[in-house]
Amino acid sequence: MIRNILDSYSSVVQDQLSESFANPNVSSLYVHFPFCKHLCNYCDFYKKIPSSSYEIEQFESDLDRYLKLNDFLLKEQKMSFLPLKTLYIGGGTPSLWSPIGLKKFLNKLATHEINLASDIEFTLEINPGTLGDHPRELLLEFMDIGVNRFSMGAQTLNPELLLMLDRVHSLEEVYQSLEALESTDCNYSVDLMLGLPESSKHNRNIISELDFFLKYRPSHFSVYILTTKNNYKHFTLLPSEEYIEQEYLEVSDHLRFRGFNHYEVSNFALDKKESKHNMQYWLSRSVAAIGPSATGLLRFLDFALRYKWAPQQIIYEIENLDKKTLQLENIYLKLRLNLGIDFSDLNLSPIDLTKFIDLGESWCSKGLAHKDPGTHKISLTPRGFLLQDNLLGDIFREFKHI
Ligand SMILES: C[S@@+](CC[C@H](N)C(=O)[O-])C[C@H]1O[C@@H](n2cnc3c(N)ncnc32)[C@H](O)[C@@H]1O
Ligand code: SF4
Repeated sequence: MIRNILDSYSSVVQDQLSESFANPNVSSLYVHFPFCKHLCNYCDFYKKIPSSSYEIEQFESDLDRYLKLNDFLLKEQKMSFLPLKTLYIGGGTPSLWSPIGLKKFLNKLATHEINLASDIEFTLEINPGTLGDHPRELLLEFMDIGVNRFSMGAQTLNPELLLMLDRVHSLEEVYQSLEALESTDCNYSVDLMLGLPESSKHNRNIISELDFFLKYRPSHFSVYILTTKNNYKHFTLLPSEEYIEQEYLEVSDHLRFRGFNHYEVSNFALDKKESKHNMQYWLSRSVAAIGPSATGLLRFLDFALRYKWAPQQIIYEIENLDKKTLQLENIYLKLRLNLGIDFSDLNLSPIDLTKFIDLGESWCSKGLAHKDPGTHKISLTPRGFLLQDNLLGDIFREFKHI
């Protein structure tokens, strides 16, 4: 039976929800590893091909400088690290990092008094073209030093589309990586992309791709709609909005039918397998971040401070989020989650509350949202997730008058 979008959150997420903002400490860290073996033609992440192993060594030593500045920032804000509950090494392609290099970094964390909690979620992003001739052994080496979740970029199982995206790996390498992930019995997620150029011409069948992955045991899928700029090489070959909408809704139906919770616009998880790290962002919790172009958030009771590292120099820029900006961001982020939003929590005047309730009702009548019976709580349906940008436009228009 298709699970309802209003399914209650797993206890893991409930625990995160009950954490208090009054405690100004940080227990999540993101590290940006900025190197890739080859650059895909659609990707806007900050990344580069290392010219030599020296460049990676330089990055490893730079991490200490990032950590020092980060310590300084936290101290200035009277914050400190608690043992990390989530550590996420993203990229770029962190599976290009040697386990020895990663281990050295973990030792460095300890010298900055950053320890790992015993129940930490420690994620490493991997690319199937970078696991070498012995993928199982490499994954085990990463697991030996504490990694307990992998996130693998696969994008598609269609060979022509893999070429079109200019991915570095073959289909064979995706299969080998899946076999290796299974054989280690680890927790892992798979990234796929929708709305790929010439999808119809190449008979892309996302449902049979999902079924292939589901023969294995990923606990999580991230399914992103390809976003590109209009100078994108294949811009004119992208499918129509209707095509993408249908593909997205089919994915949502299929994964929910197979027991996955569509818990965020682009994310699906088995029970208790939501990404704890990404939930920190989506719940506007503090996440420290280091590495070129990484962005961190320090959250206080009714304001927050976002800091973004420059790509080429070890300096960060700070953006202050006042109460109103934070409130708007919260609405935006909560609507991305199937947790939804309770308008009566927004401290609105009775007149404004009525406006928001009416807005929610109009979404419900169009099948874009569900309302929790007896409350003012609204959560978007998969169709609503798709139109989220328009719905947020409605919210921002109302919010401007408050
Ligand atoms: C840092 S990458 C993951 C690890 C590794 N670099 C890889 O690609 O295999 C994160 C994910 O972002 C998604 N992504 C990258 N560029 C995108 C774009 N332009 N539109 C939508 N999703 C994108 C891909 O699904 C990719 O797997
Ligand atoms: S491998 Fe990943 S990070 Fe690198 S260019 Fe491709 S999508 Fe971007």
